[in-house]
Amino acid sequence: MADNDNKMEKIVSLAKRRGFVFQGSEIYGGLAGIYDFGPRGVELLNNIKKSWWKSNVYDKENYFGLDSGMFKHPRVWEASGHVGGFSDPLAECRECNTRIRVDKELANVGVEADEKMSIEEINSLFDAHREEIPCPKCRKKNFSEARAFNLLVKSNLGDFTSGGDDPVYLPGEACQGIYLNFKNIVDTMNPKLPFGVAQIGKAFRNEISPRNFLFRTREMEQADTQFFVKPNENKDAYEAIKKDRFDWYVNELGITESKLRWKQHENLVFYAADAWDIEYEFPTGFDELEGVHDRTDFDLTQHQKFSGVDLRYTDPETGEKYIPWILETSVGLGRMFLAVLSDAYHEEEMDGETRVVLKLKPHLAPVRVAVSPLLKNKPELVAKAREVFLMLKKEFGNVAWDDNGNIGKRYRRQDEIGTPACVVIDFDTLGEEKPENKDTVTVRDRDTGEQKRVAISELTEFLK
Ligand code: GAP
Repeated sequence: MADNDNKMEKIVSLAKRRGFVFQGSEIYGGLAGIYDFGPRGVELLNNIKKSWWKSNVYDKENYFGLDSGMFKHPRVWEASGHVGGFSDPLAECRECNTRIRVDKELANVGVEADEKMSIEEINSLFDAHREEIPCPKCRKKNFSEARAFNLLVKSNLGDFTSGGDDPVYLPGEACQGIYLNFKNIVDTMNPKLPFGVAQIGKAFRNEISPRNFLFRTREMEQADTQFFVKPNENKDAYEAIKKDRFDWYVNELGITESKLRWKQHENLVFYAADAWDIEYEFPTGFDELEGVHDRTDFDLTQHQKFSGVDLRYTDPETGEKYIPWILETSVGLGRMFLAVLSDAYHEEEMDGETRVVLKLKPHLAPVRVAVSPLLKNKPELVAKAREVFLMLKKEFGNVAWDDNGNIGKRYRRQDEIGTPACVVIDFDTLGEEKPENKDTVTVRDRDTGEQKRVAISELTEFLK
């Protein structure tokens, strides 16, 4: 296992070197808080999404999928509370103008603070600990007071006046699209309570200090579920959802259980009945991976009030009308990606060498299997290997052709991107050395390094 001190650097370096993640706009010097997923990264990301969708839509009987438009009516963000209260406490260094996020700096010196505290509370904690917080750039301790800095990102969509007085915001959180479509889903799908809606959508936040690679970015994707329950019938469902989400990380994403833990929010937003985070031990320490929130009837009540549309659910048995309560799960795809990479990253000895290997679950691996001819300058080997490659590609899709360098180098390269199996076509396959091995290939297992001869006719089943 890599030592935690520089594990993050190693992961960032591997992610770049092997085509997982690139800094956004890199050729222009980069854009803070924005990342691009490369050819390997987009496969891993899509596999995580598929696994999430399967667990939250297909494996459930009472969940629906949704994909709502990113832009929303400006009033949506007033109703949700984002225009008035979606802010982080920001202070500026009076010496060099560097901006810091005060709650995070306080947390770094061991003072419990979070974005849900009032700005007065934050300032009184800040004043008591100023001496412990130097500017990250000039190391002086001469900061302004903290002020609430709104995180919503504005756009001029549909505004041709250049006035910008009534901006259309980019989504500060993806889940609002689910609340806006609650009535549409009830009217078209006629679900009975309780039921859930799942969505993966983009969100944007003007984070003061984007940091730690994919952990805190300005553009992100969130995977959300909103579970609609009868008023006051939240407790058991909440516990069941919490368990379901925690188990999913262990069983489906293969995350080490001891690196996950629960943390209850101490400062609840006024409408929440309860809120817990699933934390993961990132290379930088334990931090929030996913939030599981008991939001009461706040969201639909607000949208009913601001839109003037009746969002009550009519109970089909009693005819009673009420606003359902909502249990939310919300996780950033980038954080899941980072947790998966970090958990899978291993450095270990194999065949007298140190290798880097990503021990990804096969269904998450960007490349399911790599196919190689033993030598790339032997046309008979290459032709046979192409046959096997095309056969496997038809079955698995994400199959790589790898004939670069010697076999040892190919294995190391595939280990680094987490390919579970490498198939090699050699002279035995052609029946030239041991006729009994004709039409068999070598399959090398990523985790053990063990090699087996498998008949081409049984290869697909073997790999499955
Ligand atoms: N709808 C609820 C909501 O947005 P949140 O706690 O603000 O709640 C949910 O965000 C999740 O989104 C977090 O647990 C985290 O995984 C992810 N997330 C939030 N801000 C992020 C950021 N700046 N960069 C990456 N992921 C972020």
